[in-house]
Amino acid sequence: MVRDIVVYPDKRLKTVSKEVEAFDEALHTLLDDMYDTMRAKNGVGLAAIQIGVPLRALIINIPLEDAAEGEEEQPRENTLEMINPVIVEKDGSTKFQEGCLSVPGIYEEVERAKHVKVEYFDRHGEKHTIEDDDFLAIAMQHEIDHLDGKVFIEKLSFTKRKKFEKEWKKRLKKI
Ligand code: CO
Repeated sequence: MVRDIVVYPDKRLKTVSKEVEAFDEALHTLLDDMYDTMRAKNGVGLAAIQIGVPLRALIINIPLEDAAEGEEEQPRENTLEMINPVIVEKDGSTKFQEGCLSVPGIYEEVERAKHVKVEYFDRHGEKHTIEDDDFLAIAMQHEIDHLDGKVFIEKLSFTKRKKFEKEWKKRLKKI
């Protein structure tokens, strides 16, 4: 089921989400709804708090580059579901132009670690480790920030942030 997205500057986005304790049907429904919502909005990632649920759960689905015409670019089975993720290693630095379903239409360059190693649980409570030094590394850092109540625009320089806030106020009036 597609749910409503929490849009910046809604205070819920500042919530530090709580650890998931039960890997049950309710969690599976939440993850399924997160996928439906992310696809409906053409996103590549979503944290539970972005649909108003303060739990440490996120999904990432990087579109396939080699999908044939008419083929699903973000099949459900390609979705990386991360419960209670923790960054256990990070190094290097890289810049990437990020966007966020909670700040629709805004794309800004953000600096993050180049390489991260993350420990997390899947929907059944099995523990996994994943490492990346490409787009997935950036996506994981962006989504884990949401679990800690942080949105990517907070990483902008003072001047860029001021410009963004001004622009965003204008846009919100139109929505
Ligand atoms: Co986001």
